Amino acid sequence: MKYRLTWLGHASLHLQIGEYSILVDPYFKGNPAAAAAPETVQADYILVTHGHGDHVGDTVEIAKRCDATVICNAEISHWLKERGVKTHAQHLGGGHTFPFGYVKLTMALHGSGLPDGSYGGNPAGFLITIPPGEKLYLAGDTGLFGDMRLIGEEGLDLAVIPIGDNYTMGPADALRAVKLLQPRVVIPIHYSTWGLIAQDPQAWAALVREQSPAEAVVLQPGESYTRD
Ligand code: NI
Ligand code: MN
Repeated sequence: MKYRLTWLGHASLHLQIGEYSILVDPYFKGNPAAAAAPETVQADYILVTHGHGDHVGDTVEIAKRCDATVICNAEISHWLKERGVKTHAQHLGGGHTFPFGYVKLTMALHGSGLPDGSYGGNPAGFLITIPPGEKLYLAGDTGLFGDMRLIGEEGLDLAVIPIGDNYTMGPADALRAVKLLQPRVVIPIHYSTWGLIAQDPQAWAALVREQSPAEAVVLQPGESYTRD
């Protein structure tokens, strides 16, 4: 099925799948690369990978205004519910069928403490299967791990992975990740938001094209990749 993925800066994404509008890690306030505003962005569902402020971001405000359901781990779900947000809790390895597709939580090597210091459970990535079977892997914040090979075995149409280094995989490990994941298309995120994670995405994309069959697509914040 056709889908459209828009990079909204840093790790924030918008996915349009059929009639459904899905936000991922909507962090706009305080995000120097933000390509959307929490007051106007639309969402039916919001996926939150982990508890850090640059991922939970404006979730509470947007979810309430849009009456969106937040899909996340049980600990973040509990925290959001206390703030009046509608949630659907899952955990690593568990999947659930939503109107737009089947969402499975995958492991991520990272932390997950919430902005107020509350426990945020384990960090996650998302593997989304869009009927009839197209698979999108959103890695979340993570270091390289060998079990990316298992995720790749599912057959990925698209992988969205961090390349910023310091907090997540850097370009070299992200290149190794592409070789394990073997996606048809890979899109880098979580870089150049701040100087500390400044990277050259075009240089990285050139290495991907040279060393793997994957098509590397570099977006600017606000730009979309459409799968017809
Ligand atoms: Ni993080
Ligand atoms: Mn992050």
